[in-house]
Amino acid sequence: MSIELIKKAEKNHVLNREEIISLLKDDSIDAALFRAANKVRGKYMGEEVHLRGIIEFSNICKRDCLYCGLRKSNENLERYRIMPEEILDLAKKAAEYGYKSIVLQSGEDSYYTVDILQNIIREIKKLNVAVTLSLGEKTFEEYKAYKEAGADRYLIRIETTDKSLYESLDPGMSQDERMRCLKDLSSLGYEVGTGNLVGLPGQSLESIADDILFFKEIDADMIGLGPFIPNEDTPLKDVKVENFQMSLKVMALVRLLLPDANIPATTAMESLNKNGRMIALSSGANVVMPNITEGEYRRMYAIYPGKICINDTPNQCWNCINGKIASIGRTVSKELGSREKIFAL
Ligand code: SAM
Ligand code: SF4
Ligand code: FES
Repeated sequence: MSIELIKKAEKNHVLNREEIISLLKDDSIDAALFRAANKVRGKYMGEEVHLRGIIEFSNICKRDCLYCGLRKSNENLERYRIMPEEILDLAKKAAEYGYKSIVLQSGEDSYYTVDILQNIIREIKKLNVAVTLSLGEKTFEEYKAYKEAGADRYLIRIETTDKSLYESLDPGMSQDERMRCLKDLSSLGYEVGTGNLVGLPGQSLESIADDILFFKEIDADMIGLGPFIPNEDTPLKDVKVENFQMSLKVMALVRLLLPDANIPATTAMESLNKNGRMIALSSGANVVMPNITEGEYRRMYAIYPGKICINDTPNQCWNCINGKIASIGRTVSKELGSREKIFAL
């Protein structure tokens, strides 16, 4: 029965809620599911892997998400802000290595005004790379200003579509507002990335199925699935979880349903399994987001424990990831890696 469902999804890219739930529950089909997702990835996205270099430019955040080490109530975290000239310097070096896409990520830090961000975006765009922002919730006007400065893409995870769970884990935040952000970004012409956390306390398989259907409903251009990793310095520190396999399953199902979306093999996956990103690339993913931040900042951007590459340099990460991708018979793309819609929903 489950194998039939996988075959159907591999062909038609459709599954209903009950079918997704039954596949999430059935561990006996995992290998077949990963194989099918890998085949769909090969058919629609080819063998090239897109590298997006990520600059984690500030760990200061006004929000208090219960799961995140950057939350404002975490007093054990040494905070930093990277100044615009240094951000540009990191971006320039990344472009010299060969990155075609730069991601700017931070906590929700109001130090970086629209003017400051527009200047950074304009300067980075001169390097002929795609610019992706991941700065959290902003107004329509702010998103519009970043777009006018040249930003191409925006990542903002829905985290969970379970409204009451989301609002209990993200105090003071509302799911309607999160949805508003996604809608505004889409209407402004961004390539929109979203995603969820897998393994949050109180999260059901049913709500994970809803997350997957939500990504399909909004036809997300990028979908980042992160295993939730409990952080010692947050209220969720005592949650006991093993989320790697389930995250991989969710990712594979997302690939079956959104065959031409860009799906990263996330850093959090490799933080739970030392070969996690290559396993993910062989189970539906086609993107990797190596860290291009330098020095102490890597350690200080402590969203969750065990984060990989905290003692490495951008050069080491570039060589490491290129080697790993070659070792699984794939190649690193020299293109911007924008989403090309091949499959009509
Ligand atoms: N502040 C922006 C936002 O929230 O969209 C961007 C930075 S935030 C650190 C990026 C992502 O980290 C979040 O969307 C969340 O899914 C993820 N994250 C936070 N805490 C995590 C944890 N404990 N384990 C795994 N991922 C986590
Ligand atoms: Fe801030 Fe983003 Fe972490 Fe929430 S997930 S505390 S918004 S950095
Ligand atoms: Fe950073 Fe492997 S990607 S050391």
